[in-house]
Amino acid sequence: MGGVKNYFLRCILCGAEYDPAPMYVCDDCGGLLEVVMDLPSSKFFSRIVDRPWYMWRYRELLPLGSGSRIVSLWEGGTRLFNLSVEDGLSLYIKLEGDNPTGSFKDRGMSLGVSKALEYGFSKVACASTGNTSASMAAYAARAGLEALVFLPRGKVARGKLFQAVAHGARIVEVDGSFDDAFKMVRRHVSESSDLYLLNSINPYRLEGQKTIAYEIYEALSNAPDYVIVPVGNAGNIYAIWKGFFELVEMGVIDDVPRMIGVQASGAAPMVHFFRNGTYRPVEAPETLATAIRIGNPVNRDKAMKAVKFSGGWFSSVSDRDILSAQLDIARRYGLLVEPASAAPYAYFRSNIDLFKGSVVLISTGHGLKDPDILKYWSEYGLI
Ligand code: F0G
Repeated sequence: MGGVKNYFLRCILCGAEYDPAPMYVCDDCGGLLEVVMDLPSSKFFSRIVDRPWYMWRYRELLPLGSGSRIVSLWEGGTRLFNLSVEDGLSLYIKLEGDNPTGSFKDRGMSLGVSKALEYGFSKVACASTGNTSASMAAYAARAGLEALVFLPRGKVARGKLFQAVAHGARIVEVDGSFDDAFKMVRRHVSESSDLYLLNSINPYRLEGQKTIAYEIYEALSNAPDYVIVPVGNAGNIYAIWKGFFELVEMGVIDDVPRMIGVQASGAAPMVHFFRNGTYRPVEAPETLATAIRIGNPVNRDKAMKAVKFSGGWFSSVSDRDILSAQLDIARRYGLLVEPASAAPYAYFRSNIDLFKGSVVLISTGHGLKDPDILKYWSEYGLI
């Protein structure tokens, strides 16, 4: 166990506080837990300018004991591309496909797997629509831990399954959706004291992902006006918002950007929750953007907090719009992103009048992960 702790865990529903521990939900009320950091002053960012451009340049803002081993594959430091500047509107895309296994999950897994070692676990587990399992398998291999992944059978993009197998994960295919696989892994973890759960219900994983916000701030020297994020299990949108919120707390920026969550129309429980105030899971989620084919997002309360607090909103786009946006990004800008990662652009380009100032689209994963999508481009008459 390493060094001085400058953070603790707090329940987002009842406010109960806990010393750092490998826990996932509040013992009192079952609410999600968030990490509360003792933040440095606003001078922090001027002190780190010469550090390497990867996630661990923000070491002091990440909840890992000072003597603990960092499990890194050189994640973070991804490109922020300026796509256009027109009529007072600057459009950027943050390319998380630049990460070692090709998605933003690597940020969370670098910290999450480091925590698994710090806490003395020998095995890590997750349910996944693909990217989480690919990333966890790679980081577990790096750390010398066993990896166990639960995947919805037939619904994981081939590149992602290929990665999990290559890195030596033990794979359990589940007949059902991601939500069924997630239930199964939670049951497994509750029955084993040696298995650390690395889905985004794990509060530490999201701490790794909050570094997306720090990088955007450093690249633009300010917060953008809007950040648009594809939403599945609804952890990443909260993580990015939390990163910006910490920058406000440190006195580095004045306001958080408006956070806009985009779901696929066949898997959009957050849109209904946002518009009607009542939460209803989608029983049989369906979309060709398999990364976000999730009907019962575990981080719904965190995501709602982030979106409402920031003055943002949730919306959805059709599969056709997603695929046509994916091709548009590929052909107009030379950037290949996976289908889920094209959802923010699909939403932006049909609602451009809503935006002014600066907009950052979060492109969550690399296009090469899902080459089978080619047949749907053709079925939809897009090529
Ligand atoms: N984009 C991609 C490419 C993803 O893989 C995911 C989630 C998301 C967006 C949504 O992020 O869940 O934090 O709202 N993929 C998970 C997985 C569920 O298992 O790989 P979220």
